[in-house]
Formats: sequence, C-alpha cells, structure tokens
Amino acid sequence: MSNKPKVPVAVLISGRGSNMGALIAASLDSAFPAKIVSVISDKPDAKGLEHARGFGIEAVAIPRSDYDTKAAHEAAVNAVIAASGAQIIALAGYMRLLSSDFVQRYSGRMINIHPSLLPAFPGLATHSRALAAGCRVHGCTVHFVTEAMDEGPIIEQEAVRVAHDDTPETLGQRVLEAEHRIYPKALAMLARGDVRMSGDGRTRFEG
Ligand code: GRF
Repeated sequence: MSNKPKVPVAVLISGRGSNMGALIAASLDSAFPAKIVSVISDKPDAKGLEHARGFGIEAVAIPRSDYDTKAAHEAAVNAVIAASGAQIIALAGYMRLLSSDFVQRYSGRMINIHPSLLPAFPGLATHSRALAAGCRVHGCTVHFVTEAMDEGPIIEQEAVRVAHDDTPETLGQRVLEAEHRIYPKALAMLARGDVRMSGDGRTRFEG
C-alpha cells in the first residue's frame, strides 16, 4: 500500500457515466494514486450523477441553461472544481466544447477519453465512420485536452479488432470495454507523475 496521498480528481460528464464509473471503481483500490472527489454534469438527468452519489461522491448538476453566457457557466464549473480541491480534471463523455480560458487553466492536468484511435475519427459517430471506412482495427484513446478538439497529445490507446459482421453497436460495446481499461490506467499514470504534457505540446513519459 502506498503512503502517498491520492491526487484529487474531478470528473465532468453529460450522460451515462460508464467511464466515470470505471474511474471510481479503480480508485477504490488503496494502491490507486487518485481519488474522485467531485462529479459535475451539465445535464441534470445524467445517470452518472446518481451512480457517483451512491459512492458518497459529491455530484453536481450545472446546466448550461442556468447561465447567460458560456463564460458564466464555466465559472460555475470552475468554482465547484476549486472547492473540491481537484488537481486533475477527467472528461468522461462531457459533451460541451470548452473555452480556451478553461483549457489553459487546466493545461496538462485535464484528460479526455475518445472512442477511436486518434488521430483517426475525431468528433462524433466514430464507430459507424470506422465501419464505413472499412477499418479492420478501431479502438480508443486517452489524451491531454488542448484547444483543438480531440487533438491533444496521446497518453494511452487500445486497439480493438473489427469483426466482419460488426454493427456500430457491437463494435462500440467492445470499444467501451477497452475505454474502461485504459482510462483508469492513463489517470493513474498522470496522478503518479509517470506522464506529463511538455511545453511543446507533446506527451513525455517519465522513468
Ligand atoms: C464514451 O464513448 C467516451 O469515449 C466518449 O463519450 C462516451 C461516454 O460514455 N467521449 P460514458 O458516459 O462514459 O458511458
């Protein structure tokens, strides 16, 4: 068992929150170097909120519609993050584009999970696009968040073979299982200091 204090993490979600659940599950292990201290959703009905509360984790809905501007909404999100003491931000299906200010504030400390092998298929509908392109291999990526969407330096990836009879749903299900493996792994690497984003915007692996 490690004596080092766990690094506090805030998770931002918009929906189901299965990746958030994978991070929470991993963090219950005493040897895991991070703990989830706050879950924030821009959607009040996000299933992940209840799931997080079931673990005694603060879970707050901050709907965009409650604020006049994007800046005011992000300020509210920032306030909850600051109050929680979180040092790392994990985006887990958070469906809002973040402002440059927000991204800069958490530069090198904010990560995202994306359901494709980036740089292939940034954006949405990744599984149907991979099938339409005839990919034999698809997968998922954890990366640092930078201003360009889905373009930040890569921390971890897992490849998933595409079956001849895959649908977006069957393929997406196997990719999701891989997401649940690599997201805790990448978060642990960042929390331990085994990986960082360097000034030139690349991923550096330490040790
Ligand atoms: C995942 O596929 C993730 O890669 C993408 O959004 C989805 C969120 O799913 N960014 P969940 O809410 O974690 O179940």
